[in-house]
Amino acid sequence: MFFLTKKIILDCDPGHDDAVAMILAYGNPEIDLLAVTTVAGNQTLEKVTYNARSVSTMIGMTDVPIAAGSSKPLVQAHEPADVHGESGLDGTELPEPEVPLSDAHAVDLIIETIMRNPAKTVSLVPTGSLTNIALAARKEPKIVDRVKEVVLMGGGYHEGNWSAVAEFNIITDPEAAYIVFNENWKVTMVGLDLTHQALATPEVFNKIKNINTQPSKFLGELLEFFKAMYKESQGFDSPPVHDPCTIAYLIDPSVVDTMSVPVSIELNGNLTRGMTVADFRYPIPENCNTAVATNLDRNKFWELIYDALKNIG
Ligand code: BDR
Ligand code: CA
Repeated sequence: MFFLTKKIILDCDPGHDDAVAMILAYGNPEIDLLAVTTVAGNQTLEKVTYNARSVSTMIGMTDVPIAAGSSKPLVQAHEPADVHGESGLDGTELPEPEVPLSDAHAVDLIIETIMRNPAKTVSLVPTGSLTNIALAARKEPKIVDRVKEVVLMGGGYHEGNWSAVAEFNIITDPEAAYIVFNENWKVTMVGLDLTHQALATPEVFNKIKNINTQPSKFLGELLEFFKAMYKESQGFDSPPVHDPCTIAYLIDPSVVDTMSVPVSIELNGNLTRGMTVADFRYPIPENCNTAVATNLDRNKFWELIYDALKNIG
């Protein structure tokens, strides 16, 4: 099948699964990765930015600008995620970054990249807290009309992981999520309901190992650590590899089923702050801008990851 190249900006906080998103975005010929921007989330801004540059170095991604963004959420304090370890990317030896860091702030690089490209050609793919994206929309409101769509990893309509009902990327900056979900652009929420289907099973580990390249060895080691942490902290036998599901959807929409429903962000609930409240009641409003991901074609998803790894070599 033939798909048109999709231009994307990946705004991330590597992070084991963010690293897989980078691999998929860079290794898939359908994706034109215009920029990688970082945000405090899984670890401090300094650490996740180092990690983004280190992953880029490992996969030979020397031609994609990388810019650091927000070091703190809009309102609350920053708290890192335990599942990624002290460095944010524990489990392997990270190569010393050989790719430069842009002088621009991530928010400015996001705005400049969207405004420089033709309208409706660039998709925003946030796989961390939504701080940079919210700030970009506030700093240059013209980007809202100009982006093609926002496809984000975050939230969940029936599941939470950092509270009973809230997911990490949303609960770490709910005010930013509120801004992003309420702007007049199309938002597809690839949440836990979907990403908990993207499990790195023993078969997946074997397939990655058999690719037998430096990047595949690197990824195998990262996923081993992630597996142990997910078992210990959330009881998973196989870890969910959340973030690349966004990219897989953009490459081939048949990999991820979606449903158009209104989604609101809870800011005030004592028990529910950071919840993505999806309203499945009939009828769905005609002007509904938000969609949620529901079902993953697991085989197609993992094949995309293996192919990307092979393409990277
Ligand atoms: C999300 O939280 C982070 O720890 C992961 O990188 C992913 O983006 C899953 O809840
Ligand atoms: Ca992430």
